[in-house]
Amino acid sequence: MNFKHKNIGFFDSGIGGISVLKNAIKLLENEVFIYFGDSKNAPYGNKTQNEIIELCTNICNFLIYENNCKAIVVACNTASSAAIKFLRDKYEPNIPIIGIEPAIKPAIEYVENNKLNGKILVLATPFTINGDKFKKSLSLYKNFKIESVALEELAYMIEENLDADIIYNYLNEKLGKYVKEVECVVLGCTHYNFIKDVFKNIFGDNVKIFDGIYGTNKELIRRLKIRNIENNFESKDFKKVYIYNSLNDQKINRCYNLLNLEVN
Ligand code: DGL
Repeated sequence: MNFKHKNIGFFDSGIGGISVLKNAIKLLENEVFIYFGDSKNAPYGNKTQNEIIELCTNICNFLIYENNCKAIVVACNTASSAAIKFLRDKYEPNIPIIGIEPAIKPAIEYVENNKLNGKILVLATPFTINGDKFKKSLSLYKNFKIESVALEELAYMIEENLDADIIYNYLNEKLGKYVKEVECVVLGCTHYNFIKDVFKNIFGDNVKIFDGIYGTNKELIRRLKIRNIENNFESKDFKKVYIYNSLNDQKINRCYNLLNLEVN
């Protein structure tokens, strides 16, 4: 594709990163976005680090060299956990690489500000939970009650659009025992953002749910500003989002549909 302007690339192992992109579109009105979902290789959460690094590198090459991207958002916690260091070493300083990670810090602030005593429950893929990056961030908050659960099948269930009842039963079985002790839940996988209602059903309205969406986009905006590479024209005449997927057109349609849904 021959773009006259430069774009912002977003990618995920499938549909999950759409939840991050949706918010970015609202915040950055003059930008054009290219989204790549790697549904053919989803889920990433059960793969090895080397496999994830290779997949991410191919996607970044596609976004940067074939789609004229000036910045990349790794809108997948698993990919960020596995590959962000490698991607930064390879592409920065030319291209800023922004990653998403479980929003533990805002959850800690919430617990502290409200003088709460309950647990913070972090939910993510096995790769994210077992990764060094997550362990390192946990070590910063040793004085807090943080529990983490790896949900091995959940990203796949959401990617495959399984029935909400099936997902509810799965989560109820895995998380039922935490319901009484938990004060907030951190969604550490971008796929999970699409089923916030199911989490609310399980934990009740008093439990606060955190995601990394706004924090990631705030960082994207900061990095664009530092480099002075924001688009300074009104892009009303441009199509704002181009979606690609490694699997098929059906997935692409689903992503466009999800972009039009509210993610609360
Ligand atoms: N959206 C990815 C994440 O945030 C999904 C994980 C996967 O593909 O296993 O971790």
